Amino acid sequence: MKAIILAGGPGTRLRPLTCTRPKLLMPIANRPLLDWTFERLSWAGVSEAILAVNYMAEAFEKHFGGERYGIRITYSREEKAMGTGGPVKLCERLLKLEEEETLLIMNGDIWCDLDFSALEASHKRNVSRGAVATITLYEVEDVSRFGVVELQPDGRITAFHEKPSGRVESKLINAGIYASTSQIFSYIEPRKTSIEREVFPRLAGENRLYGFQHRGEWGDVGKFEDYLKVNFRVAKSLAGEKPRIEGSVEYDSTVKLNPPVILGDGVKLSPGSKIGPNAILGRNVTVGRECQISNSVVFDGVEFGDGCLVKGSIIGEGVLLGGNVRITGGSVVGDLAIISPGVKLLRKVYVCPRKEVEKSALGPKRIV
Ligand code: GTP
Repeated sequence: MKAIILAGGPGTRLRPLTCTRPKLLMPIANRPLLDWTFERLSWAGVSEAILAVNYMAEAFEKHFGGERYGIRITYSREEKAMGTGGPVKLCERLLKLEEEETLLIMNGDIWCDLDFSALEASHKRNVSRGAVATITLYEVEDVSRFGVVELQPDGRITAFHEKPSGRVESKLINAGIYASTSQIFSYIEPRKTSIEREVFPRLAGENRLYGFQHRGEWGDVGKFEDYLKVNFRVAKSLAGEKPRIEGSVEYDSTVKLNPPVILGDGVKLSPGSKIGPNAILGRNVTVGRECQISNSVVFDGVEFGDGCLVKGSIIGEGVLLGGNVRITGGSVVGDLAIISPGVKLLRKVYVCPRKEVEKSALGPKRIV
């Protein structure tokens, strides 16, 4: 099995964090999102992956080089944005599929515990019935943000509605991961195009599109709320009822750890701090006395002064927080920003990287 991973989007909804890193290298439980994916792909025997890159392409090459977990990695660079179909078509020239070899195509901004070999096995059965592609499906309550499918009892997808505005019966959505034969390329035009809007409806109309339902964990990290949710789910499954300590961490008995909590290597917690629930602290984070951190992700190298409170927020790499800073309500601080003592950033306040913030912001605002 070989894989194409779409990794080139600018991730505008995750700015300011994606001003300094691509979305797919954002940490999930202290590990870049795409590392989780490569590990799972290797378990399923994927030998080669093409990363379709565009925005911050060099960051991927620097991080992964030519191989990860035994998977050979090549890069397909685009000159301009080409939607979800154009980049896949561009990869055709770089791929040599063996006869009957399965091609996996996936949006890279997904975290899931899918068994890729089970998807491959299902796809192979579908190919014997004429399938070109088998889409991974996931059941959600609110389908309006996704592509919704109508699935027949024999596994065929007979209709595909991208981001439906009206009422649809089905709760099964396109999870952004497909297994296909090399025939998929003949359905994609070499231009900016959408697989979901142009290719899938056509395949469904020809009875050549099948579905495979995934029932485990799945989430995309397109928005801050989703990014936090995925982190907390992974933290819960990794850490459970005990704090997860990754390496050498310093704290005394006055510190309260309320799981799920993950503490990266080199974390130092001063007396009286309360960490958790749902707190993920990256490597070398230092926390002053009497701080409270919950429902938040803190990237590597952040320094907290005494008496800080961070709740429901994301703090980027190397940020400095003065004493008694309060950051709450889905606020996000870009890398290397400096927040002066006593400042409050209370609700959806987004701070650009390297910004020095001396005044409080109590409601939605971008500090640029
Ligand atoms: P937003 O700008 O916040 O919408 O994020 P995004 O740029 O990542 O777009 P979206 O969430 O729609 O992308 C879904 C997946 O497709 C992600 O893995 C993106 O990296 C990838 N993607 C989106 N646009 C492109 C593109 O033009 N080229 C490539 N190679 N990948 C893309």
